[in-house]
Amino acid sequence: SRAFTVLAIESSADDTGVAVVTSSGQILSNVVIKQHTVHEGYGGIHPFEAVRAHQRNLPGAVRDALSVAQLRATDVDGIAFTRGPGMRGCLGVGASAAKTLAAALDKPVVGVHHMQAHALTALLTEASAPPTFPFLTLLVSGGHTLLLLATSRTEFRILATTPDESIGRVFDKVSRMLEIPWTSLGPGAALEDFCRDAAVQEGSMTVPNLPRSMPGVMGFSFAGLHSAVERFIRTQGGIGCLDESTRRALAAEFQRAAVGQLEEKVRLALKWSRGAGHDVRHVVVSGGVASNAYLRERLRLTVGDASLGSPIALVFPPPALCTDNAVMIAWASMHRFLAGDVDEYSILVRPKWNI
Ligand code: KG4
Ligand code: ZN
Repeated sequence: SRAFTVLAIESSADDTGVAVVTSSGQILSNVVIKQHTVHEGYGGIHPFEAVRAHQRNLPGAVRDALSVAQLRATDVDGIAFTRGPGMRGCLGVGASAAKTLAAALDKPVVGVHHMQAHALTALLTEASAPPTFPFLTLLVSGGHTLLLLATSRTEFRILATTPDESIGRVFDKVSRMLEIPWTSLGPGAALEDFCRDAAVQEGSMTVPNLPRSMPGVMGFSFAGLHSAVERFIRTQGGIGCLDESTRRALAAEFQRAAVGQLEEKVRLALKWSRGAGHDVRHVVVSGGVASNAYLRERLRLTVGDASLGSPIALVFPPPALCTDNAVMIAWASMHRFLAGDVDEYSILVRPKWNI
C-alpha cells in the first residue's frame, strides 16, 4: 500500500519547523526557520517576539516544505503539530495553522508531545539498526534536561530531571556572562568553540573547580553551577577583569562540570535499570546540547565503562534532527495516524504537559 504522508508543524519555542515525512521513514522536506537574531538583544527567548516570528514565518515555511517535497497540500494524508510542552503563544500559532489546514483539507490531525518526539527521533534516524525498547534517552536542550527510560513508543519513565534550570539555558547564560560572541549556531555552541583548545580542556590553575551537583542522587540541578560561575566572576572584579585565557579556562571548567553531571546520572541510571531488570542496550542522546562534541566523547567513555557483559550502544541522532524540527513531530505522530487514533479539530495546546 501507498505510504502515509504527514505534514508536521513545530512551533513550541523559538524555531518554526515544517516537514513532510512518509510512513516509510522518507523525509521529503525539513524546513526550520531559526529566530535567534530576533532574540539576541533580549538575552533569552522573548515570548511576544517569538509569537510574532512564528506568525510571520509559518505560512512561508509550509509553502517551502510542500514545494521541496513536490507535493500539493491535497496530497498530504495527515497534519501533525506540537501540542506541548512549550510556550503557550508559540504553540498556539502552530496548532491553529495545523488544525485549520486539516479541517479545510478534510484530513486527520494529531497533536504530538514535543519531548516524546525528541525521544523517538532515533527510531527514524537509526532505521537500519534502531534502538530496542527499553532504552535510555537523555534529552538535553534549552527547554529540558531529562533522563528517561522508554519502554515503548508511548511509555516513558522519568529517571532524572531538573527542578531549576535546563542545561541548555545554563550554557546560554554562562556563554553570555563570559561575553563569548555568538556564532550562527547560538550561545551554547559558541561556548563549546570558545573552550575547544586542547590545553585548556585539561584544566587551569587560575579557575576554581565548579560544583558537580547532587552526587549519588538521580536528579539534575544547574542553578548552583550557574551561580558559582557568576560568583567567581564577581570576586574577580567582573568579566572585564578576566583575561582571555582565564575566560577560556572558566568556560572549559563550566563545560566539564555540566557534562560531568550528565555522565554521573547516566551511570546511575544504567545501574538502576540493571537492578530493576530492564535490559537496556541503547542510550540515545538528543536535544540541542547533544551536538556538543565534548559531551559525546565523555558519554562514550561512561557507557563503555558501564557496559560490563552486554555492550550498550550510544546513539546520537544527526544534529539537524536533535535540535527542534518538525520531522520528529511527523514521525512521532505516524503510529497514531496509522492506528486511526487521531485528535478532534477542537483540540487545545498543553503548554505544561508531563511526558
Ligand atoms: O533542542 P534545542 O535546539 O531547542 C530546545 O531547547 O528545545 O536546544 C537548544 C539548546 C540551546 O540552549 C543551545 O545553546 C544548546 O542547545 N546547544 C549547545 C550546543 N549546541 C546547541 N549547548 C552546548 N554545546 C553545543 N554545541
Ligand atoms: Zn526541543
